[in-house]
Amino acid sequence: MTKINIERLMKNIESLGTIGENAQGGIDRALGSEADVLARRWLMEYWKERFHRETKVDAIANMWLHVENGEDRKAIVLGSHHDSVPNGGKYDGALGVLMATEVVETILEQNIKLKHPLTIVSFTGEEPNPYGISTLGSKALAGRIRKDQIRNYFHRDTLENLADGIQRLGGDIEMWEKIPGKEEIGSYLECHIEQGKRLEAMDLPVACVSVITGIYREQITVTGEANHAGTTMMECRKDALLGACEVALAVEAVLLELQDKDIVGTVGYIKNMPNEANIIPDQTTMILDVRISNEEKKLEMQHQINERVKAIEAKRGVRVHRSVILNQPAQPMSEVVIRAVSQGIRQTGLQPEQLISMAGHDASNVAAMADSGMIFVRSIDGKSHCKEEYSTPEDIEACANAMLRAVQILDEEMAE
Ligand code: GLV
Ligand code: MN
Ligand code: MN
Repeated sequence: MTKINIERLMKNIESLGTIGENAQGGIDRALGSEADVLARRWLMEYWKERFHRETKVDAIANMWLHVENGEDRKAIVLGSHHDSVPNGGKYDGALGVLMATEVVETILEQNIKLKHPLTIVSFTGEEPNPYGISTLGSKALAGRIRKDQIRNYFHRDTLENLADGIQRLGGDIEMWEKIPGKEEIGSYLECHIEQGKRLEAMDLPVACVSVITGIYREQITVTGEANHAGTTMMECRKDALLGACEVALAVEAVLLELQDKDIVGTVGYIKNMPNEANIIPDQTTMILDVRISNEEKKLEMQHQINERVKAIEAKRGVRVHRSVILNQPAQPMSEVVIRAVSQGIRQTGLQPEQLISMAGHDASNVAAMADSGMIFVRSIDGKSHCKEEYSTPEDIEACANAMLRAVQILDEEMAE
């Protein structure tokens, strides 16, 4: 049975994992950062040196490597993203890109003949980032963002326009129509760490993803009145930060009342103004992130939050402005890819369990244009979006071998 080269894959994970490494041992590789630029360079150089095939950076700066096989068919695309959250780990995203690279390298080395061309992709800006838009590269691919919307985004610290940031990364939004489309992409398969504890609980190294959770995000700005922290009586205050705290707690209460283990919510970003010890805050902005797949419950959640926010405004004399910045429904994975992944897992002697992904992924966007699916690797202790993120080489090897098989099965099963 053909096997991937785990030593090579682990060496690549370690090499790419040094790019953006910070003093705490985490990775800072946000969209547009210097580390993003360096990771792109690393990947392109590796692809060019190892594959001697066409590489491409598209209009939104997604990176592609294409392996033609002389057949006039749509490609099987494998990949993920190379950016990271602040102080993140070296597996989220990077593992998927490097595993795709390893699977394709093995297929070429072993001279495995496929009916479909193979393509590797590393998507631009999957994670939330200072420009305020996540899964950017796959949204552009799937037509979920238009060229004319790109200029509306600015880096929150440097104020760089997103279009200029994309240019720095080798993209060019004026070439939008050259982003690969439906006519080129037949199917998409993404490997990712699970980022939860369910595989550990099941004592399994890998699983096939059935559905990717819906994600709902709001930017919430609470406006009060700045005043002197010493001279303003407690009953005279319109404290924006305290209003924001009440809103965050109210959201938590609403989510708990929905009593559904597949609904979770977080306020992970907060900016307080003017943020000084002796001034009552007059403006606090936060981002709410809710993972919710049930549309009825989402409506109920919105209704409940509206009611509670009105009460908080009245009680504290603050104004709350909310804007929905992401409202992505749950995305089932394609049956044909689920079958191929499950069979691939079975052929390596493992039990093919299915899991719902509670994290968002590029596959959720790609599914809007092509048959898409995912394979998960067990995360040790369920840790992710932190430097403790880890998966063992043994589990990674099991996943890569299952993925190698899944690609060959998919090649047989794809309609076009
Ligand atoms: C992606 O990393 C997410 O936030 O789920
Ligand atoms: Mn992530
Ligand atoms: Mn990821």
